[in-house]
Amino acid sequence: MSSPWEDKRFAEESLKHIDARFLPGTFQEVSFLERALGLEPKESILDLGCGAGRHAIEFARRGYKVVGIDISPWLLDVARERADKAGVQITCVQGSVANLEELLGEGIAFDGAISICESGFGVLGGWKEDLAFLKGVRAVLKPKRRFVLTTFNGLRRYRQWREGDKRFSFVDGIQKWTTPPDWDGVPLREEERMYIPSEMRMLFEMAGFKDVRIYGCAPGRFEGQPLGIDDIEMMVVGTA
Ligand SMILES: C[S@@+](CC[C@H](N)C(=O)[O-])C[C@H]1O[C@@H](n2cnc3c(N)ncnc32)[C@H](O)[C@@H]1O
Repeated sequence: MSSPWEDKRFAEESLKHIDARFLPGTFQEVSFLERALGLEPKESILDLGCGAGRHAIEFARRGYKVVGIDISPWLLDVARERADKAGVQITCVQGSVANLEELLGEGIAFDGAISICESGFGVLGGWKEDLAFLKGVRAVLKPKRRFVLTTFNGLRRYRQWREGDKRFSFVDGIQKWTTPPDWDGVPLREEERMYIPSEMRMLFEMAGFKDVRIYGCAPGRFEGQPLGIDDIEMMVVGTA
């Protein structure tokens, strides 16, 4: 399935938004993630859907060994440039997070993994693909190490639904997205599976994660706070 993120202009436009809205909160987010993942100095971390590398670079600044995977070659070029400018090293791998074994090879194991801000999960084709992704992440984590994922809180979307809203199928939990009418070029489309927290717990447990915890979160506010029903995003933490 093709992703709008493979379109350079879409990635460029989105990065402007990410830089303006999310970049300022990155330091706080990484400080929380370090603790949530229980990382020790110099350990290794896998950033799934790393984009322009805002978390990857901040982790590298703090001395961790970082591998970032993203589907957008253009965003990975930006990540490499920004890492060079920051004087740190990150390893960038281009491809879909659906193909972790193929991208990373056999036998690799990380001390922690993150997937922050709707970075692949939910847009891989459906719950079976999302479950396969979670199993893939579990397989590249060392035993007892953790994975932190942030994604949309489906509860909010169900509550927002009104008669006639054809963009969200509440039967399937699928949100349809397309580029706005003023988008100049071939329209881009995507279908995203919106999960409610109990489904997230189920998927994580089916993938073999233990001690699954679900929190609320917002850009620059990763605090392990209780999830509110109208929070835009939720955070899921699981232990391999
Ligand atoms: C909203 S951005 C977030 C980027 C980054 N995690 C951050 O917080 O700044 C979503 C990212 O997911 C990437 N992405 C989307 N689908 C993907 C897939 N199937 N495999 C790898 N990366 C994917 C996009 O290219 C984009 O960089």
